[in-house]
Amino acid sequence: MALENIMKGFSATTPDDAFKLQPDKTHFNMCGYAAPKLDIVRIGFIGLGNRGPQAVDRMNHIEGVEIKALCDIRPEKVNAVKKSLEGSIHKPAIYTDKEDEWKKLCEQPDIDLVYIATPWSLHTPMATYAMNHGKHVCVEVPAAKTIDECWQLVETSERTKKHCMMLENCCYDFFELLTLNMVRQGLFGEIIHGEGAYDHDLLAGNFSKEKYYNMWRLKENFRNGNLYPTHGLGPVAQTMNINRGDKMDYLVAMQSNDFMMAQMASDLAAKDDFYKPFANKKYRGNMNVTSIRTNKGRSIMLQHDVTSPNIYSRIYKISGTKGSALKYPEPGRVAFDDKDWLTQEEYKKLEEKYQPAIVKKIGEEAKKLGGHGGMDFLMDWRTIDCLRNGLPLDEDVYDAALWSSIAPLSEWSVANRSNSITVPDFTSGSWKTNQPVDITLEKGGTTKVLV
Ligand SMILES: NC(=O)c1ccc[n+]([C@@H]2O[C@H](COP(=O)([O-])OP(=O)(O)OC[C@H]3O[C@@H](n4cnc5c(N)ncnc54)[C@H](O)[C@@H]3O)[C@@H](O)[C@H]2O)c1
Repeated sequence: MALENIMKGFSATTPDDAFKLQPDKTHFNMCGYAAPKLDIVRIGFIGLGNRGPQAVDRMNHIEGVEIKALCDIRPEKVNAVKKSLEGSIHKPAIYTDKEDEWKKLCEQPDIDLVYIATPWSLHTPMATYAMNHGKHVCVEVPAAKTIDECWQLVETSERTKKHCMMLENCCYDFFELLTLNMVRQGLFGEIIHGEGAYDHDLLAGNFSKEKYYNMWRLKENFRNGNLYPTHGLGPVAQTMNINRGDKMDYLVAMQSNDFMMAQMASDLAAKDDFYKPFANKKYRGNMNVTSIRTNKGRSIMLQHDVTSPNIYSRIYKISGTKGSALKYPEPGRVAFDDKDWLTQEEYKKLEEKYQPAIVKKIGEEAKKLGGHGGMDFLMDWRTIDCLRNGLPLDEDVYDAALWSSIAPLSEWSVANRSNSITVPDFTSGSWKTNQPVDITLEKGGTTKVLV
């Protein structure tokens, strides 16, 4: 299929469509790509609601960062963040009040990186526009909503040679980093199976008038699939070197009915006219279970439920030929062979021995500076350090596209009686030779944390 057709907003409707959407061209491989190094990384932020201001604050604690611009459609959000930077070295330009002002931020010449934390439907349009204007991109999860958008990200990143990193912070959580390092040292043997989840009760937040801009997150719930797969999937995919030695072949997805959302919409609408447009609608089923098979014969199980009263869980389970690791409930635990989980003392010894380099270097500072216990800070610091040292980023555009694609693929499978659907190879075959993510910190690691 020609690239022009891919760009027409076409979304996969059959298993084969998803596969055929591969561009007819020789691709430039962005996996392992090192952009010219930047001593100073000049950042523009778009989207300053719940998530964006936390990223601004974190970046304010990283050496070699200049915050050059802030954008949010709501002036009060931009002004609050601008105020929080008073007295710092940062003097950002402001873009606000109009739907398309973010384009001016992307066009601002003295910006290297555009950092996007907006509603999902704006992620790909903003990311591609930014790359087309010569900027690297960090974009919140999920990076794309359709298969077509996934390919747009890949095509734009390859053509412009700009990084497009999806901000999958869970890859930087402490237990996930530790066990990834243990996988690399062979402690679990060959990885056979992984599990990941996003079970987080957001029901009240989704229906809140204040929590999300213009009720965007509630409106997403008319799509029936695993809408938020990347938190559970990212760390598991890294242990299996997906896109870097293995690839996903196909998936099947099953969805429960909705037992919660329609009822809540109708209860609220009975008391408050604001909710009338949300009543009498068919909502996404509460629980989605998606199973993925990889080319090397591994399996992955994902769960997604944000609308029933579950205890927070991202699962994170990996099992291999020699042992397994499991987190949630916390703390995480590790076992070898079929013996019991290691005792706390045994685990502590392993933790000391296999602590990955990034945690040794800035783990304690990251915990103090925070962001989901410190993992957000590890992610931002590592990204800036890579850009400043001219290193490839840990999460590239193929990860962004693949991990995001689970949402539309699972929607298709759910709509088709859980039939299987082919997962596109966004690397166009390069997965066979792409190298695993470098977690040694042997290159780089030179950026200071500003406390
Ligand atoms: N990785 C994580 O742990 C994590 C946690 C929370 C949220 N997120 C992601 O962050 C993103 C934002 O979530 P949130 O909770 O901050 O939502 P939010 O609604 O609080 O923030 C989105 C912001 O985008 C702004 N916006 C909307 N349209 C715009 C436009 N045209 N131009 C400029 N700004 C515009 C809104 O005014 C709002 O302030 C989502 O993608 C979400 O999935 C990730």
